[in-house]
Amino acid sequence: MAIRNIVKFGDDTLRKTCKPVDAITKRTKILIEDMLDTMYNADGVGLAAPQVGVLRRVCVIDVGNGPVVMINPVITSTEGEQTGTEGCLSNPGKYGTVTRPAKVTATAMDENGEVKVYEAEGLFARAICHELDHLDGVVFTDKVTGDVISENN
Ligand code: NI
Repeated sequence: MAIRNIVKFGDDTLRKTCKPVDAITKRTKILIEDMLDTMYNADGVGLAAPQVGVLRRVCVIDVGNGPVVMINPVITSTEGEQTGTEGCLSNPGKYGTVTRPAKVTATAMDENGEVKVYEAEGLFARAICHELDHLDGVVFTDKVTGDVISENN
């Protein structure tokens, strides 16, 4: 287990399309453990592999109900809309208003290769959308309505 460096906005890595994971290897499991450590250390609710410099379709999310590991995630349906404040560990201290689906159904493998279906709403739905965007080189500021605000503290 280790905390990895988080790639910041402006780095090309965050603009690439990630490749699917073909096989869950020991290396994949170490990546996932490190991503969880890195996310918790930074007080984040989600982290995608490109944010630690790995161009694979892996993300981790914890919106307060325990860790969710998503390998090769796909959103299969969405419903409604929610508008709220969003930030990103790759752009610390910056926030903006982003509209996302209110509900999301997503399918992904977990760290053991089991396929799981998630019926997400609220913050969990927002986090899934945000992290999956990272896997396609999209960052939240691409979708912000209005200004990106700097937190002053
Ligand atoms: Ni992010």
